[in-house]
Amino acid sequence: MADPSDCEPLGYAAAAWRRACNTGVLTGLGRRLQALGLSERAVTQCFGVRCPGHAPRAFRARLGRIAASAAKSWPPVFETVPPAAVLPYLFVAGLRLPAECVARRVGDDWPLLRELALVSLSADRILAQATVAILPVGRALVVSDRADRERGRDTALICDDSAFHTIGAVPGRLAGPGRDRAGTRWLDVGTGSGIVPLARPGLAGSVLGTDINPRAVAMARLGAGLSGISDVTFRVADLWPGTRSDRVPGDGPWDLITFNAPIPDHAILAGGEDEPLYRVGPADLLPRFWAGVGALLAPRGEVIVHSWQPESGYPACLNLPGSVSAIRYTPRGVGPAFGLTLWRPDGPDQCRSMAVTLTENASHVTRALLDP
Ligand SMILES: C[S@@+](CC[C@H](N)C(=O)[O-])C[C@H]1O[C@@H](n2cnc3c(N)ncnc32)[C@H](O)[C@@H]1O
Repeated sequence: MADPSDCEPLGYAAAAWRRACNTGVLTGLGRRLQALGLSERAVTQCFGVRCPGHAPRAFRARLGRIAASAAKSWPPVFETVPPAAVLPYLFVAGLRLPAECVARRVGDDWPLLRELALVSLSADRILAQATVAILPVGRALVVSDRADRERGRDTALICDDSAFHTIGAVPGRLAGPGRDRAGTRWLDVGTGSGIVPLARPGLAGSVLGTDINPRAVAMARLGAGLSGISDVTFRVADLWPGTRSDRVPGDGPWDLITFNAPIPDHAILAGGEDEPLYRVGPADLLPRFWAGVGALLAPRGEVIVHSWQPESGYPACLNLPGSVSAIRYTPRGVGPAFGLTLWRPDGPDQCRSMAVTLTENASHVTRALLDP
């Protein structure tokens, strides 16, 4: 599952993560963490949100109010965390908690969490903090950087709405007449934490997630291990395995290729050299993607891209053959604007481009909107 060479730059205990993945220790740990409150249901209830991806932001807003009203008692105000909230506060909100309270909650797993460097201690060993975020999405546990790590090229994105729009656009099944699931392949480009394939386990017979950021790839592998998902592979690559030496048996052609892309640097005021790779990419990234992706698709395959969209309309519509459906969900006049594009090169020649209005109750793009 893991390729040791591309994990070495990590500050985290990547070797320990790999060992644990390979022995199944992680899967057992993941199950126990879920049973102790790191499940989607428990987290959405704990933070009062509908979507687990909204939990870190909702908590920050609440934290701001608590800090304003109890500045002097910060952080001891969290000494009395209800047991059910310990793991959501630790791994979703990224809060510092009394180490003793975390150790009590996780019991025999405390040494394992320490060995895997998933929890660090303050110098006086009184407070514990998660080194990464672990967010439950469906039945998976998705590992990324904590929400408060906003800078640094190699920051791995904690899942945000863009990931949930992309997940919503993925088809319900890939197998069709004459094709069984085992023979289908899905490539998720720019996989980051691996959230998109981890949220849709079992969709394809084989799944590859690629990312240019080795740190994100190591986290995606950890998330797959914790989630007990073994049919997804993650690899470091610039877009996709491009050279013959990068390719392994089973690489493509792909029935589905997804890409939740960074924003091109000309579209926003980028914030300098430590701007995360997940946020801003070079202007030629999407053109390079669109120019190469068709050659990687299987017959009747499809491409789904979540990306920035220019106000003047999405240019992919103008020059892609086959069937293109593009939707924009950011209201007009609000920038930068985002949307999704579905491309089927073998589909009937047509280009459909529309704006959709999302609501609090239907806050993410669905497949039915993109492919009515
Ligand atoms: C908006 S994030 C999406 C992450 C994840 N798929 C999600 O939905 O949360 C874009 C991802 O693309 C990756 N990326 C940027 N340039 C890339 C490239 N040239 N090849 C592969 N991945 C790239 C970034 O490291 C980042 O993880």
